Formats: sequence, C-alpha cells, structure tokens
Amino acid sequence: MDAIAILDFGSQYAQLIARRVREANVYCELFPWDTPAEKVLALQPKGFILSGGPASAYAEGAPYILPYVLESGLPVLGICYGMQALTLALGGRVASAARREYGLATVSPLPGAPLLPVEPFPAWMSHGDRIEQPPAGFQVLAQSPSSPVAAMGDASRRYFGVQFHPEVRHTPAGAELLRRFAVDICAAQPDWTPESIIQASVERIRQQVGEARVLSAVSGGVDSSVATALVHRAIGDQLAAVFVDTGMLRQGEAAQVVQVFRKTLGVELVAVDAAQEFITALSGVTEPEHKRRIIGEKFIRIFEAQAHQMGMPPFLVQGTIYPDVVESSAPDRAQAARIKTHHNVGGLPEDMRFALVEPLRYLFKDEVRRVGEALGLPHELVWRQPFPGPGLAVRCLGEVTFERLERLRQADAIFTQELAQAGLLHMTQGAGTAQAFAVLLPVRSVGVMGDSRTYQEAVALRAVTTEDFMTADWARLPHDLLAQVANRIVNEVAGVNRVVYDITSKPPATIEWE
Ligand code: XMP
Repeated sequence: MDAIAILDFGSQYAQLIARRVREANVYCELFPWDTPAEKVLALQPKGFILSGGPASAYAEGAPYILPYVLESGLPVLGICYGMQALTLALGGRVASAARREYGLATVSPLPGAPLLPVEPFPAWMSHGDRIEQPPAGFQVLAQSPSSPVAAMGDASRRYFGVQFHPEVRHTPAGAELLRRFAVDICAAQPDWTPESIIQASVERIRQQVGEARVLSAVSGGVDSSVATALVHRAIGDQLAAVFVDTGMLRQGEAAQVVQVFRKTLGVELVAVDAAQEFITALSGVTEPEHKRRIIGEKFIRIFEAQAHQMGMPPFLVQGTIYPDVVESSAPDRAQAARIKTHHNVGGLPEDMRFALVEPLRYLFKDEVRRVGEALGLPHELVWRQPFPGPGLAVRCLGEVTFERLERLRQADAIFTQELAQAGLLHMTQGAGTAQAFAVLLPVRSVGVMGDSRTYQEAVALRAVTTEDFMTADWARLPHDLLAQVANRIVNEVAGVNRVVYDITSKPPATIEWE
C-alpha cells in the first residue's frame, strides 16, 4: 500500500496532518523527526510531510531535516516549521518576523500556483519566524499580510512549503491541499479504505497467530468490539471471546453485546454475568478511586479464571488505537494513559503473559468506526460515545446498589433517547454532544408531587462538546429539550424528584463526576 511519512517536529497538530491524509484515503504514519532513516524508509513512503514545531529553525540544537529525506529524491511538503527547516536545509533564509502572525489570515495565491485554490482563502497561521529568502529554484506561490512567502514551491524537485496550517479546520482549503500533495504530487494511490484495511489486517493477523488460539475481552466499547470482529474475520473459531458483564453498563447494552457477537457475527462469545459479584464487592464503597480499584481487580480475577478455563490461549486481542501509540511516548500523556489502565487488560498480572494482537494499532478512531461498520457491527454500537471502563459505578455517586444503578440507567436512557431524537447524540460541525449522560447524586431534596411532599434523589445531566476529551465545554442544549428530559425523568423514574444541568467546562471540572 502506498504511504506518506509525516515527520513530527513537535507540532501540536501532527496527528491532525495524519488524519487529513488518511481522510484522503492515503495511508500515512507519523515519526518523530529524528527517527533513524531505516525505520522511516521501511514504510517505503511516496513522499514526506514535515510538521510544524515550536522551535526556531535557526536556533542552536533546533530539530532539522535528516539528510536521507532530501537524498531520497521524493516529494516534500513542509508545514510552518517544516517549511522553515526545508528553507534552511536548501540554503534559503529564515528570520524572526517583525510581526508575529497568529490566528486567521487571508492567503492570496499567485496565478497558476500548484496545490492552492485559485482565489484568496482563509488560513490558520501560528508563527514568529518567516521565510526571508526562499532557496534557489523555489518560487513564491502565495502571500499573506504578514508573510511575503506564505507558500513556496520548486515544482521540478517536487518540494513545497506552506507557512499556514492546512491540517486544521480553520483552513477549509487545507484538506484538499494535503490530498493533492499526497495523490497528485506524490502519486500515492488513494486505496486506504475500510475494505482494504480489513483485507490487510486479516492477512497480518493470520501471519502473526498461525494456528494458535486467541483470546479477546469484549467490553461493549467500540475499540474492543471492532478489534474482536476483525480478528474473528481473520481466524474464525480460533478466537475465544469473553464478555464480562459487570452490571455497570447502560440500559440494554449488555444484551446488545451478546446478541451482536453471537447472532450477527457468529462469534462464540462466552458471557459471564458478574453483576451481582461486582455490586457485592462495591458494597459500602463511596470513594471514586476505591471503586475503580475494586472494579479493575475484580475484572482481572474473573477474566483470569475464564482464560484458564479456556486453556490459556497464547494470544490476546487488544484494542489499542493509533493515538494511544503515538501519545504513549510523550511524557505529559502518562497521566491520561493511567486513567485507562483501571479497566484495560494492560493491567493484567505478571503471570498472565500474552502475546498481543493489536489490529487497530494504526487506525484513528473514525477509521475504527468505519471498519466496524464494514464488518457488520450495528451503527449505534460503532458510533457509541465514549464510556469509562468502570462504567456506571463512577456515575452513581455514593454507594452503588442495584436499585440506584437501575434508577441511573432509566434516567440516562431518557436523556439519550431525547438527544438522539433531536439529532444531538453526535458532534457534527461543532454542534451536538461528544459525550452526554446522567449522573445520580447522593443527595436528597424536597419536592412536591401531586399534593404530597417528596424527599428523593437528584439527577445531574452532563453533556459536553469536545474534540479530544482533554478539554471540553458544556453543551449549549436547547432549553426545551432540557425541560422535556427533566420532565420525563421526574415523572418516569421512581426515586428522583429533581434534575440539574452541569454547566462547568473542563478544566476546571472533568467530564465524569468521579
Ligand atoms: P474525564 O472525566 O477525566 O474523562 O474528563 C475524560 C474521558 O475519559 C473517560 N474516562 C475513562 N475512560 N477508564 C476509561 O476507559 C476510566 O476509568 C475513565 N474515566 C474517565 C471519560 O468518559 C471521558 O470520555
């Protein structure tokens, strides 16, 4: 499969570049800028994209373009810092700009400029340095008010540079620019489609596991479901799938998981109903981290017992996706990564050593979803919003009891139904919700229903908009919708007489309440 290599010079947008290229159906991989040549060239790239970065290209010790890139004779597109590094490498001049340029700028292409739109277009700028003198052989392709060289190119060597960021949404013409670079300039085949991903994965999985048996833990989440379905497509009955029902899933989800895997996909799924066991283990526990630990440990014990019963297959499926792989090397991500270990099989004890099968290792989340659909998983499962490993235990504040979980499940289902009906259960063009759910609070308040006084629990509704879940804003849901949800919850869910809407952003709050 044709591929583009993206060299990361420390840009906060590096992953976005990769996503845009993949959206153009061209495979690509990200590498830190100083990755040894052999490793990058093993990909057999058809071209290079150099990302932006925080340094000044002319500063001492600044990242630079390793010689193999230009020696390869392949096309190169430098973005922001990448363009400046390219300029220095080829003998041009870069200097600090008198006026820094941050935010939206209008970029005016010169007539006949390749890659760019014909008309002036809005583009996202974020730079303090600029190109003073393009290298020999380069032509200026576009200008902006603060950048005399907003884009440049040497068509004969197929080298290009843009000062703006084509990978961000604020540059609407950027996706097309990246597509043209990959497909027209690098001549990469746009054959990275769900079908070809499935085909390549199936071959890779077969090669890796041979005749051996493979174990998979299905959680009901998108990644473990798609990974399991993919492995099943590759090796059929060599796969043993286990679903531990912790009793902490949302309404109808446990039944759906069993139905989908057994009936739709024909996977021999072993479902362990451990709800009572989990509730018993959580009895009297109210501290959030304590809840998480109990659930994590209990999950591992139950899973371990199942694995032994199945004769300990040597391989284990894991739903690691590309952002996890790329981010795991960055030190400031350690905290985020740790949040997830509570429920991930990554937390398995030493004596349970499996070789890992990670069929989603090179996929972004949206690619995982498209592959899931192509494998026949239902739309509502594949497009499910994120859900924490410990499940409803961390949305049932205070003690987790069966009765309270049911109360929460009912309220949550009403909220979800109403959002779905209003078309707000996904993020489309910045509107809708990235994550929305109900939280049951351990406080009681006084109300009046009919002519009687009530003294019952409160439900908080949480709905956020976010791109990456690292920061989030509360969703500005229509008041009429909130009124309808509140009304239905109080009328239909026994034991709840008050509904509040959470209007804190993250930070300072988190998305989940626990
Ligand atoms: P917070 O609450 O930290 O959540 O803003 C950010 C995102 O992570 C999800 N989350 C978890 N996911 N195990 C997980 O796999 C966990 O323990 C966990 N806690 C929070 C949360 O739902 C949100 O999408």
